[in-house]
Amino acid sequence: MTQFNDTELTAAVIESFDETPEPRTKFLLQELVKSLHEYVRKTDLTFDEWHTAIEFLTRTGQKCTPIRQEFILLSDVLGVSMLVDAVNHRDRDGATETTVLGPFYVGEHKVMPHGTDVSANLAGERMFVQSRVTDLDGKPLAGVPVDIWHADGDGYYDSQKPEYATEGPSSRARFVTDADGRFFFRTILPCSYPIPTDGPVGEMILQTRRHPMRPAHVHFLVNAPGYQPLITHVFMEGDKYLDSDVVFGVKDELIAKIEKRSDPQMPDGKPAEAPWHLMTYEFHVKPGAGEAPQPMGVRVAEDA
Ligand code: BEZ
Ligand code: FE
Repeated sequence: MTQFNDTELTAAVIESFDETPEPRTKFLLQELVKSLHEYVRKTDLTFDEWHTAIEFLTRTGQKCTPIRQEFILLSDVLGVSMLVDAVNHRDRDGATETTVLGPFYVGEHKVMPHGTDVSANLAGERMFVQSRVTDLDGKPLAGVPVDIWHADGDGYYDSQKPEYATEGPSSRARFVTDADGRFFFRTILPCSYPIPTDGPVGEMILQTRRHPMRPAHVHFLVNAPGYQPLITHVFMEGDKYLDSDVVFGVKDELIAKIEKRSDPQMPDGKPAEAPWHLMTYEFHVKPGAGEAPQPMGVRVAEDA
């Protein structure tokens, strides 16, 4: 029987994957083994610590449901999601910056007419969002589906509430750009909010004395055929958590100045109750291919 010391063990495990038929899978597994073994060696990991880690990952999996993805949340708070995003979007060439998808992209984005109030049933100061989608030369792109979603005035997404099952989506919609690449809608002014803290990831954040807050934002997924899907958020200028987002998702270019307005009409000519807010933001997409992300939790449910 072969006996290994700690470094020989690493080499043996790496070699055990040598016959993996798919080269990329082989590379990923062997590099994973290298990094994991290095971590154990560097930290002199104890049995107790190893057990705590296994138990934590087990609870993370157990917390997942068709509409809650605790593993994505873990990846987000460890900065892994933003790192995957960064290595895959190194050259923007003038395209809008990207950021995390987050765990609340659950699909069910119904196409709505421009101007719809996507938060009609929610209390809060009203915001008019006007936007345009162009290519890198500024040419407007027509017929592009744009999914939007954001939290309510209490900091919860629709899918986090029991009413979701009976009443369906709220503050979540799809708009299709017009001939000038434009779309617009009404909603409430979003607020900063904590990531869910009732699971293992939130517990870890609180126990390590990090705060769980994300700065106020609206999510956008711009999915123009022939262009790379753009997953991003637009953040509200002045939010106190812009410099310490718990998921490290803020980029300067994604911070929008939100104008406080008191005119009696919104830009589409319909009456407005003062005060209201105006968000103006343009998205520039990069030619290429790629599939828009599927909501992970929902896919698990459909496969089951
Ligand atoms: C979100 O913006 O919805 C989000 C992103 C990452 C983790 C938690 C929430
Ligand atoms: Fe969000």
